[in-house]
Amino acid sequence: MIIYFSGTGNCKYVAEQIAAATNDKAVSIENCGKQIHIKHGENLGVVFPTHFWEVPAIMRDFMKQATITADKSAYAFTVATYGTTPGCSGTDMKKLLQKHGVDLCAAFSVKMPDNWTPVFDLSDPEKVRRQNENADKQLAAVIGKIQSKATGNHANPKAPYAVRKLSDRLYDKARRTSNFTVEECCIGCGMCAKKCPVQAIEMQHKKPVWTKAQCTLCLRCLHFCPKFAIQYGDGKTRQHGQYHHPKVDI
Ligand SMILES: Cc1cc2nc3c(=O)[nH]c(=O)nc-3n(C[C@H](O)[C@H](O)[C@H](O)COP(=O)(O)O)c2cc1C
Ligand code: SF4
Ligand code: SF4
Repeated sequence: MIIYFSGTGNCKYVAEQIAAATNDKAVSIENCGKQIHIKHGENLGVVFPTHFWEVPAIMRDFMKQATITADKSAYAFTVATYGTTPGCSGTDMKKLLQKHGVDLCAAFSVKMPDNWTPVFDLSDPEKVRRQNENADKQLAAVIGKIQSKATGNHANPKAPYAVRKLSDRLYDKARRTSNFTVEECCIGCGMCAKKCPVQAIEMQHKKPVWTKAQCTLCLRCLHFCPKFAIQYGDGKTRQHGQYHHPKVDI
């Protein structure tokens, strides 16, 4: 079984491609229940985006709340997708799995378009297409390693775990929903509220209102809004465009 979280489709795509190549099934943590039991000879894959060099809060919470058991013969692997560096996310996930008595066999990473558009510019479709083309090549290599049950930490570029304290503080602050704004062009369709994986948005008088102080910051609401009405932070997000993986829907 391959479990994944995906804000804008990159991890969903990666999880589904691995599942197709290894005759496995990919299941989103948003739909899979909290009981994961991996039998003799099966694989346990965990696919997640890097958020502030860490495992995203929603994935971390899932790993803490779920019951996960795996036969000793199970091949357990992780894949972190990322834009610049997966940072400490592989080590984070290894620790989370260890709490369930699951020993990680291999950690991988795949560089993909960076959906953190408060900083990164995804407004050039040709550039984004090339990034996804390169990602496909990396993914093919990762799939080959999974098929041969390779072991070890193949996630790159790595970061010293010491930075984790700083990234934790930055992530915590960035997750404040007061960072979001809604532009006049909002048509009140409610898609942002419907798609939010942590139910942080409610529609009030046909406008989205963030009713939780923090969210998991997947940016799904911003990237999928049909009018591109949701912005984050100091205004760069509008310039930097919307993104979701071209081959999947969420
Ligand atoms: C809040 C946030 C923080 C991010 N932090 C990092 C990071 O620290 N390092 C990195 O390389 N990419 C970072 N990214 C980029 C994502 O990890 C990357 O685009 C990922 O493939 C998105 O996967 P998804 O489409 O399945 O959500 C971040 C994205 C978001 C939304
Ligand atoms: S998805 Fe966009 S247009 Fe629809 S309600 Fe949300 S902000 Fe408004
Ligand atoms: S409010 Fe937006 S960014 Fe935050 S968790 Fe929900 S969909 Fe993701």
